[in-house]
Amino acid sequence: MDPAVGEKEEGSQPQGAVVIDGKALAQGLRHKIAQTVGEWIRQGRRPPALSVVQVGEIPASTTYVSHKVRACRECGIRSEHIRLPATVSQQELIAAVDQLNRDPEVDGIIVQLPLPDHIDPHAVSWAIDPEKDVDCLHPENFGLLAKGTPRFVSCTPRGILHALTEYRVPIEGAHVVVIGRSLIVGRPLALLMLSRSATVTICHSRTRDLPTLTRQADILVSAVGRPGLIGPEMVRPGAAVVDVGITQIEVEEGGRKRKRLVGDVKFEEVRSVAGWITPVPGGVGPLTVAMLLLNTLDAYRMREGLAKK
Ligand code: GUN
Repeated sequence: MDPAVGEKEEGSQPQGAVVIDGKALAQGLRHKIAQTVGEWIRQGRRPPALSVVQVGEIPASTTYVSHKVRACRECGIRSEHIRLPATVSQQELIAAVDQLNRDPEVDGIIVQLPLPDHIDPHAVSWAIDPEKDVDCLHPENFGLLAKGTPRFVSCTPRGILHALTEYRVPIEGAHVVVIGRSLIVGRPLALLMLSRSATVTICHSRTRDLPTLTRQADILVSAVGRPGLIGPEMVRPGAAVVDVGITQIEVEEGGRKRKRLVGDVKFEEVRSVAGWITPVPGGVGPLTVAMLLLNTLDAYRMREGLAKK
C-alpha cells in the first residue's frame, strides 16, 4: 500500500476518519510470507509448522482457529488443529503441549483461549517451549517483551503497531489510552507503546470516569468486547481509534436473522470525529492472523539457525 494514502495533512481539520484497511494490509503481508516460504521450499528446506490446540467447542474459538489454520495453509505453512474435549484434564493438556514441544518439525504452538474453568491458563503458558511460544504468553517471553527486548511480539499488538506505522500515525510522545488489561492484548500493547516512547494509560472495568481519560487519547484502543462502549463523545477530534472488540450479534435483515460481527466502537458516529479508525470486521482481526504467521516464521528462523535467538 502507498503509505501516503493513509497520511493526514498536517494542520488540516479532521473531516472524517481515514479507515484503516486491515484486510488489505494483511493480504500484503500474507503475500510476502508465501513468497518467503516458497523460497525456503525451493532451497530444499522443510516448511514451517504451527500447531493450534483447542479445548472444548466454543463456536467463536472454532471459527478463529479455522481462520488461523486456513491462513497458514494458504501461505505454505504446515498447520494442524488439535481438538481436545472440554473434559480434558490440565495434566492431559500439558502432556499434549509437551509432545508438540518435543516434535522437531513443529515451530509454533498456541493454545486457544479461553480455556475451561478447571484449567489454569498460567500453568499452560509455563508448559509451552518458550522458543515455540508464538502467542508470547510464556513468562520468559512476556518478561523479554516487558524489558523492551522481545523474542516474540504478541500477535494483536504487533498487528496494531504495523497498522499505525503503515498509516503513519505518530506514536512517539503520543498519549495512548488502552481499554482492557488482558495478557494477550491490553498489557503487551501498553508495554510495546511504552517502548516506542508513548505515554500510556491502561483502563479497565474498575476505572473511574472513563470518558475523561479516553478524551485525552491521541491513540485510543478498545479491547473489551462490549458493543457500543465507545461513542463520539469519548473521542478527541483527530485521534486514532483502534477497535479490538469482536462480538457476534444477531440482526434481522429482510425478516431473517443473521449473525454479524461488531466491535466496541460506534463506527459511523466515531468515524466523523476521529482521524483514523479501524473497522470491524476487516480491521485488527486479519492483522492478528497475519502476525501469527509472521511469528511462526520468526520461530522457524530461530530454530533453523536463520536468525539469532
Ligand atoms: N483467543 C482470542 N484471541 C487469541 C489469541 O490471539 N491467542 C490465543 N491463544 N487465544 C486467543
